[in-house]
Amino acid sequence: MKDASPQTVYLKDYTPFGFTVDEVELTFRLAPSATRVLSKIRFSPNPDAPDRHFFLHGENLKPVSTRIDGAEITPRHVEGGIEMDAPDTPFTFEAEVEIDPAANTALEGLYISGGMYCTQCEAEGFRKITWYPDRPDVMAPFSVRIEGDVPVMLSNGNPGASGPGFAEWHDPWPKPAYLFALVAGDLRNHPDTFTTMSGKTVDLNIWVRPGDEGKCAFGMEALKKSMTWDEKVYGREYDLDLFNIVAVDDFNMGAMENKGLNIFNSSCVLASPETATDANFERIEAIIAHEYFHNWTGNRITCRDWFQLCLKEGLTVFRDSQFIADMRSAPVKRIEDVIALRARQFREDNGPLAHPVRPQSFVEINNFYTATVYEKGAELIGMLKTLVGDAAYARALDLYFTRHDGDAATIEDWLKVFEDATGRDLSQFKRWYDDAGTPRLSVSDDFGDGRYTLTFRQHTPPTPGQSDKAPRVIPIAVGLLGPNGDEVLPTTVLEMTEPEQSFTFDGLTAKPVPSILRGFSAPVILDHASDNATRAFLLAHDTDPFNRWQAGHDLALDCLIAMIRDGAAPDAGYLDALHRLIRDDEQDPAFRALALGLPSQDELAQTLHDHGHTPDPQAIWEALETLKQARAQAFHDTATRLYAQYQVDAPYAPDATQSAARSLANAAMAMLTRLDGGTLAQKQFDSADNMTQQLSALSALISAGRGDDAVRRFHEQWNHDRLVIDKWFSVQIANAPPDKTAETAETLTRHPDFTIRNPNRFRATLGALTMNPAGFHHASGKGYALLADHLIALDPLNPQTTARMCTAFETWRRYDSDRQALIEAELHRILATPNLSGDTTEMITRILG
Ligand code: ARG
Ligand code: ZN
Repeated sequence: MKDASPQTVYLKDYTPFGFTVDEVELTFRLAPSATRVLSKIRFSPNPDAPDRHFFLHGENLKPVSTRIDGAEITPRHVEGGIEMDAPDTPFTFEAEVEIDPAANTALEGLYISGGMYCTQCEAEGFRKITWYPDRPDVMAPFSVRIEGDVPVMLSNGNPGASGPGFAEWHDPWPKPAYLFALVAGDLRNHPDTFTTMSGKTVDLNIWVRPGDEGKCAFGMEALKKSMTWDEKVYGREYDLDLFNIVAVDDFNMGAMENKGLNIFNSSCVLASPETATDANFERIEAIIAHEYFHNWTGNRITCRDWFQLCLKEGLTVFRDSQFIADMRSAPVKRIEDVIALRARQFREDNGPLAHPVRPQSFVEINNFYTATVYEKGAELIGMLKTLVGDAAYARALDLYFTRHDGDAATIEDWLKVFEDATGRDLSQFKRWYDDAGTPRLSVSDDFGDGRYTLTFRQHTPPTPGQSDKAPRVIPIAVGLLGPNGDEVLPTTVLEMTEPEQSFTFDGLTAKPVPSILRGFSAPVILDHASDNATRAFLLAHDTDPFNRWQAGHDLALDCLIAMIRDGAAPDAGYLDALHRLIRDDEQDPAFRALALGLPSQDELAQTLHDHGHTPDPQAIWEALETLKQARAQAFHDTATRLYAQYQVDAPYAPDATQSAARSLANAAMAMLTRLDGGTLAQKQFDSADNMTQQLSALSALISAGRGDDAVRRFHEQWNHDRLVIDKWFSVQIANAPPDKTAETAETLTRHPDFTIRNPNRFRATLGALTMNPAGFHHASGKGYALLADHLIALDPLNPQTTARMCTAFETWRRYDSDRQALIEAELHRILATPNLSGDTTEMITRILG
């Protein structure tokens, strides 16, 4: 059976499956190229279904035998699976199939990574393991027996009998097939235990390949913290005797929440101070929490169909952000999240791939694991919480867990819970789920007789398939500051529901300075004409840390736009305001480091485009270089002092305090490298005893054109460590000058350590190319061609990772006609590739528009 040919699936066509599954028993006889999978499945007619069509999904399965109630039958092989006549009473379906894990390069279903068997079934990978109704609304308890000459053999749930050559597992919680997992290999564990709030002891393990045992301690602490936090904040207790995490080197995404057996990309769980940066540690903490939190928001309550993906992903991202905010710094986390949201989701929402948080149709569901579903999905939860308040949010969540435990639920179910808990009508709020596009919010104000009026207008531009958009509910958190900087109105949430709406504030003695969209209370583009003096005032006085950061960001953005568009010199007002902030030791070092960040090349390109200019990637890069150089000169003394003052003397700890100090000191080092040609960076590189220090020095040296020796030594030092070598690949490409980026990437694709078969290495190389915009968009077109060559090469092996990386081209229409022509030619070249996967075909077709 070949892969199903691509077909569009519509939300409106949902119907329940004709049968329920009462029980699943699976036996795996492991062999690298010929694994046998025996299944025994109890089906009953489903009284809620419109028909009894007995269709089971299956892809790339070699059939051995099929039986119903013990009698051999011959199923009809149809597109994407098999169908049979089924009894209208409960019956047992049995099958034996053969699969080839060793040949599975797509990393979906059962495959082999670094000699270990592992699975990835979300969204539709279980059908590559055996015949099954592979849809999330079919839930059943699973019993699994694994046979093989393998030391460690794991599956979901609690362990049963085991002995030489076999292991049995039973998962009592009914689950959809996408949460199935199996892992088998020569694995070592990092064990621990956790006592739950009702006093049950749970065994915890992180399983790794021999040699990686020393990189598990941080992940284990993060897991225990997550378990405690979910009990305290959401009242959610773990529900099995055992919780396993496995690190896998070849993995298409970050991690997967399989019931009781989470499988992680090794880059998202393994960490030691010598090999992982502060940013890696924070990301690992968030992903461990994310997958653990899925046990309730995803597993105990799952999705009725894949259109509801944001039901579990948006909520779980929201929960992991709350967790990181509690563990570290809430303002820093919010600023980081908004930077990422704008970089990935706003970009998506403003281009040809824009789609609603809950789409109405898709061709390949794997193409919808997007920033919109995840990150915008999480923003919607945050807005709901802001609108109903913390207490009502807690009540609604309690109701959600009691009402829907064990269900495969929908967004309608989710919103109903909030309506029932609060008495609110959420029909207008629902537009956030159904309409794509980022609303633009513009503001004007008026003051007289002690009365201040803010008038907002909202407008959402058209997106593919959606031309007119009705107004949305927008929670706008505002505060007002008096002329002396005192807050005259603390944060107040305005609820905008109309296309245009005014809000008034009385009893003011002078015209206030408004602080609008505090905490980024809604995922909108705020268009607020303001002058530099006001921005500098907010940067100095706003009580809302997010808006203080935003004021600094807006100053930098305006300064850069003027430099690019008008050839202006770096704005002295911006330099002054920033300098005042960074030299003030009363200020949080993390905040100062964030304030030293600059708008990305991509944000500058989009901003220019929004203002009716064609962005020139080279000019954007040059303006950033000029500004960085001007800042280095203007802040030289301060940078020298900060660098010395914020060195961490204590033993390395990946906590918020130390990482803030390091990020400020390293921002200072990057500035000083522009003036000393790399002396300081070289010193730091030579003496670094942790990866944060080593890698930041390395990237500064490469940027200064002085990296050759350090690059060579770094490789020598780390050639045994795949995750560090990934960094070695990307740091060279990320810091190459625009006219050398494609060449650097091309040379690295010919390095013996390069392979397209490992998604991490592919992303570290080709992904790094796409994240260096001036290099990727170099007028020669070499960046485009290099990426297209590798997408064409990867597609037959791994369609998912190929399709994901096509998004590098999604902004193509904002560029000049020469670049558009170059990109269009590459897109057509990819599309014309014989046997191109459905995944990639869908992405390229949508990007071409
Ligand atoms: N559910 C996983 C997570 O967010 C991700 C699965 C991604 N699957 C995919 N086919 N892209 O934790
Ligand atoms: Zn998730």
